[in-house]
Amino acid sequence: MKIAVLPGDGIGPEIVAQAVRVLERLRADGLAIEMEHAPIGGAGYDASGDPLPDATLALAQAADAVLLGAVGGPQYDTLDRPLRPERGLLRIRKALNLFANLRPALLYPELAGASTLKPEVVSGLDIMIVRELTGDIYFGQPRGIHVNEQGEREGFNTMRYSESEIRRIGHVAFQIAQKRNKKLCSVDKANVLECTEFWKEIMIDVAKAYPDVELSHMYVDNAAMQLVRAPKQFDVIVTGNIFGDILSDEASMLTGSIGMLPSASLDQANKGLYEPCHGSAPDIAGRNIANPLATILSVAMMLRYTFGLEDAALRVEHAVKRVLAQGYRTADIAEAGMEKVSTSGMGDAVLAAM
Ligand code: NAD
Ligand code: IPM
Ligand code: MN
Repeated sequence: MKIAVLPGDGIGPEIVAQAVRVLERLRADGLAIEMEHAPIGGAGYDASGDPLPDATLALAQAADAVLLGAVGGPQYDTLDRPLRPERGLLRIRKALNLFANLRPALLYPELAGASTLKPEVVSGLDIMIVRELTGDIYFGQPRGIHVNEQGEREGFNTMRYSESEIRRIGHVAFQIAQKRNKKLCSVDKANVLECTEFWKEIMIDVAKAYPDVELSHMYVDNAAMQLVRAPKQFDVIVTGNIFGDILSDEASMLTGSIGMLPSASLDQANKGLYEPCHGSAPDIAGRNIANPLATILSVAMMLRYTFGLEDAALRVEHAVKRVLAQGYRTADIAEAGMEKVSTSGMGDAVLAAM
């Protein structure tokens, strides 16, 4: 099992270090894991002037799976766009054809009080957000900032989805729904945007192959509201790149913190890149206080989706559950009066629980 480890920027190296300890522990217990580190994002730019250095992409392509921390930071925000850290992340997703981004918003019962929502609203929450990751307004051409015919500057981006792109993410989402509670909600803005009206039409067609799954549709503005009003109405949500980005950050707060939300980004053959949903958190970087659990839970997703090692995945998830039950809390999930542990302290606790 060859794993490319790309820590990235900000809290990336701190949280990835804890996830690497989990992988090392699994290796010590017999899994044939090989890890190699490489820079991406701002670290890639600093090392070789490119947010996705050729050697990093080659390493990721040769690996079975990629573990990524996060990219970005204010010091890079004024670089030309192709040189920015975020572009490195978008490029690796596109280059590896990682079109299916799974973002599970699962509430660990121990964290019901850490959510900003009432415990009864979130208890038992288990939503899978299936976000399309290599299309939409993120990649659509034309795009840019130019002087228009009236002589005024304007910025523009293009929302685009081809039929095949919608079909393949549709199939992934329906198949996930089949293994869960068989309810799929496709989120769109079909009342305004042609691109997402087309999305809805294709989802209805894909649904014909999955008569056992109940397909519903919701406008994205309503979905944003329903997620905080009554989130447990959702089982699986499928949506495009930009709506999925926004709704998954929103959903993360239902689980207590964005520091709890892992993700898998998969290609057609389940090769995958695994990363927390959050960013590089420049406001807390370098202080050993970030929550590493989203990254550790991303390792569990890697074991499950790329390597098919359900037992090892459960071992990691059970260890997380146990440390939460034991009362270990990083600052982002600590309720008033609870003692806080550091990033590495949480890593220690997870290893002990394993
Ligand atoms: P962010 O997710 O980095 O941070 C948002 C807030 O959540 C901050 O207050 C941060 O401290 C907190 N937070 C995030 N992760 C945490 C953790 N593990 N533990 C505790 N608290 C945590 O989002 P942002 O501030 O909008 O973006 C910062 C940078 O990260 C930007 O450069 C952005 O482009 C980048 N970014 C990268 C990714 C990625 O690499 N996948 C995702 C989102 C944002
Ligand atoms: C995420 C991030 C990225 C995205 C950015 C950093 C390119 O927000 O992984 O959710 O928008 O996809
Ligand atoms: Mn995001």
